[in-house]
Amino acid sequence: MTIHQTISHWLTGTQRNFTPVDRPFVTLSYAQSLDGSIALHDREPLILSGQEALRLTHHLRSLHDGILVGIGTVLSDDPQLTVRHWPGNNPQPIVLDSQCRIPVGARLCHSLEKSCWVLTTRTSGWEHLEGVEVCPMQADVQGRVCLERALKFLRDKGIRHLMVEGGAQVITAFIKAQLVDALVLTVTPTLVGGYRGLHDLHLASRTDLLKIDPLHSERLDQDLILWGRVAYRYAS
Ligand SMILES: NC(=O)c1ccc[n+]([C@@H]2O[C@H](COP(=O)([O-])OP(=O)(O)OC[C@H]3O[C@@H](n4cnc5c(N)ncnc54)[C@H](OP(=O)(O)O)[C@@H]3O)[C@@H](O)[C@H]2O)c1
Repeated sequence: MTIHQTISHWLTGTQRNFTPVDRPFVTLSYAQSLDGSIALHDREPLILSGQEALRLTHHLRSLHDGILVGIGTVLSDDPQLTVRHWPGNNPQPIVLDSQCRIPVGARLCHSLEKSCWVLTTRTSGWEHLEGVEVCPMQADVQGRVCLERALKFLRDKGIRHLMVEGGAQVITAFIKAQLVDALVLTVTPTLVGGYRGLHDLHLASRTDLLKIDPLHSERLDQDLILWGRVAYRYAS
């Protein structure tokens, strides 16, 4: 079996066996260097993974109904969030953007196939935006989009399988809220010393550590692909 077949078989089986009723199944997937960086220190975008890992990411996208990033990623990377390097369907693009900072010129505002859903806590001030569907959401205690409410909303809109691609603040928020069901991580053989993919989780003890169990891994050209279910409390 190719790694594409192995991971897609594992993921679809995992999704089938564990589909929460009130939110989508969440797969977190991103690329990092050996030291855990996902971008340069000033958040300048950095292409980390090789061509084959990129194809795998696009294959993974095609296995999800929705793909979500934070506004920080939109502002720095201007992503398209489409499936271009693999034959498959584009997932629904979704952005967490409490203050509606998405620029009118962002590529996500000009998608021909699917209008991006912009999840915001603002009730007005987005009338200038075209080409996106603005979705007002309840705020969390920090004034950001409440993840639990957002996921319930997405599930009600028909998103059963959601892929979260970053960036770091969104990755950290999803993990803190224990909303990541599966992880597919690309680790590239580089040291960057840059912007870390996971911020402080403020865990109190060893039993609070997150464990990927069982952990699967395979080389893909020069990159290492790691994947598995996320277990939130464990004692060894
Ligand atoms: N290597 C990779 O695979 C990869 C993937 C993606 C991104 N990146 C990199 O990651 C960097 C961007 O990451 P980032 O950490 O700056 O931004 P981010 O995580 O993409 O977006 C963070 C922003 O999302 C908004 N947000 C709304 N609700 C939120 C919630 N509940 N929790 C967290 N955030 C919420 C917040 O802005 P508001 O308060 O304004 O809503 C927050 O500042 C870039 O350098 C990009 O290149 C790398």
